[in-house]
Amino acid sequence: MTQDELKQAVARAAIDYVVDGEIIGVGTGSTANFFIDELARIKDRIKGTVASSEATAARLRGHGIPVYDLNDVSSIAVYIDGADEINAGGAMIKGGGAALTREKIVASVSKKFVCIADGSKLVHVLGKFPLPVEVIPMARAAVMRQLEALGGQPRLRTKAGSSDPFITDNGGEIIDVAGLSIVDPVALETQINQIVGVIAVGLFAQRGANVCLLGRPDGLQTLT
Ligand code: 5RP
Repeated sequence: MTQDELKQAVARAAIDYVVDGEIIGVGTGSTANFFIDELARIKDRIKGTVASSEATAARLRGHGIPVYDLNDVSSIAVYIDGADEINAGGAMIKGGGAALTREKIVASVSKKFVCIADGSKLVHVLGKFPLPVEVIPMARAAVMRQLEALGGQPRLRTKAGSSDPFITDNGGEIIDVAGLSIVDPVALETQINQIVGVIAVGLFAQRGANVCLLGRPDGLQTLT
């Protein structure tokens, strides 16, 4: 099976976690896109969605699935999204697709977080995937110095084929921090959140996944 087939398989399995008549939180990325395509088949069973990025909102609307502003929604039954890395405890690195801040916000108001990923995303210790940190542009250099002091190698994410900074849906910039071995994800998330100028860090540990569906060539693995 290809990696895309594994992603498609977990996206299909995630439909079992969709709650009829409710609002569903929808993540960002290639795995989330497969989920959106599956959700389109049962769109009449749900009230609507809250999207974690402009790209996700556009794909949902393209399927005729209602997208609500989070400010108009009091509760979300379940949030379904991919991850760049996940450990057995449900802590994740996210933000490879630059949507970490909105993903974190939508996840924070959701009753359940279901992570969908191909099996290669499961790791023992988080940190091989560079940790994304979204920052206020004027604070970029100051935040980078502090991330370096934490032992990381920070690098500004740039637009493809350009040296201009990549700009997020929120007008922020992304610093990708390599070289971290994250043995205590909750502590590092707390520490980075406290750096002035940080909008959000792509460590999802304080609020990790409740369920993780991993696609493997020999079948689906479910971590709870
Ligand atoms: C986007 C994310 C994605 O969930 C993460 O990058 C995984 O993406 P993919 O499903 O394409 O592997 O955090 O900000």
